[in-house]
Amino acid sequence: MSKKINDKVLWVGKTDWELKKFHGDEFTTTQGSSYNSYLIKDEKTVLIDTVWLPYDREFVNDLKKEINLKDIDYIIIQHGEVDHSGALVELMNEIPNTPIYCTANGIKSLKGQYHKDWNFVPVKTGDKLNIGENTLTFIEAPMLHWPDTMFTYMEKENILFSNDGFGQHLASEYLYADEVDQSDLYRQALTYYANILAPFGMMVKNKINEILKMNLPIKMICPSHGLIWRKEPTQIVNKYLEWAENYQENQITIIYDTMWNSTRKMAEYIAKGVYKSDKEVQVKIMNTSKDDKTDVLTEVFKSKMIIVGSPTVNNGFLHSIAGILEMIKGMKLKNKKAVAFGSYGWSGESVKLITEELKKSGFEIINDGLKVMWTPSEDERIECIKFGEDLCSNK
Ligand code: FEO
Repeated sequence: MSKKINDKVLWVGKTDWELKKFHGDEFTTTQGSSYNSYLIKDEKTVLIDTVWLPYDREFVNDLKKEINLKDIDYIIIQHGEVDHSGALVELMNEIPNTPIYCTANGIKSLKGQYHKDWNFVPVKTGDKLNIGENTLTFIEAPMLHWPDTMFTYMEKENILFSNDGFGQHLASEYLYADEVDQSDLYRQALTYYANILAPFGMMVKNKINEILKMNLPIKMICPSHGLIWRKEPTQIVNKYLEWAENYQENQITIIYDTMWNSTRKMAEYIAKGVYKSDKEVQVKIMNTSKDDKTDVLTEVFKSKMIIVGSPTVNNGFLHSIAGILEMIKGMKLKNKKAVAFGSYGWSGESVKLITEELKKSGFEIINDGLKVMWTPSEDERIECIKFGEDLCSNK
């Protein structure tokens, strides 16, 4: 069902309340999401992006209630990932000659995925499309977060269509960011940034500064997921600039997995030591085999230091820690410290191996870490607390 944004622009996307996993199993979307598609009715009619493949028929049927599909003059695909381009095949079956405006990389991506020789029109930054009273300007935004990504700016209405940028996985009956619970909104915006855009912080910063230099009046930012930024839309732009600048809060996150609770006990003792030494720091403890990985990555993104623990198993460490370390490596975080810990029964390699992984991921390693044989004795409990205290003196 469509929602009116103004006299010229309609939201014609799909709200996906039941989405709980995104990017396969990589991103947990506890609050669902939306795939925002926009229909512009000026002298020309323009469709910006579509929706995820499972909703292709529903999308096209709903679109037919708004418009005769043959009246669509231009389709703009800002990014080829299937959550935005998924309904194209269904749509193009009905209007096969309609031009599709996208970047050169967008053409490669769409051809690679759908193997169709549609009427592609490549666009570059600064290219304009006059559609009547309004003109659309394209702004390439490579690696925000795919090489093909672009934004579209609608002059006169002063709307920036930003695709994944500034989005949130947050399903809502509302259309605008100012209408929903602000803690949900910002938690989801941050989670989205940390899990999708964090590796591209430098490009995020450069692209935003490039757009700011264009001095475009921006009345509204319409992303392709979640709520539209209508009230002071620069609030999310400023947040992105902050998050892109080696972001950290006064937080230390301890992430661990455990077999028989020795490493868990170490985690809790270390947390006590951190807290004993610094009453202001937020200490969070997460078990990677129980906590959600999307939440873990978000907390890692917020942290100034992470403390990573696993017992030694078969000369290595537990698979949930291996998985999360691989995901953390992909985030390409800077300006964060790390240290490892873990229990062992005989060989005890886990701490050294985790430390090596953390080093490869760009963390500043504080020290060689802490190992405890079997379960922590009373002396070792005190040693763990002292280890935590000393980490804070290293802040
Ligand atoms: Fe929302 Fe990169 O797709």
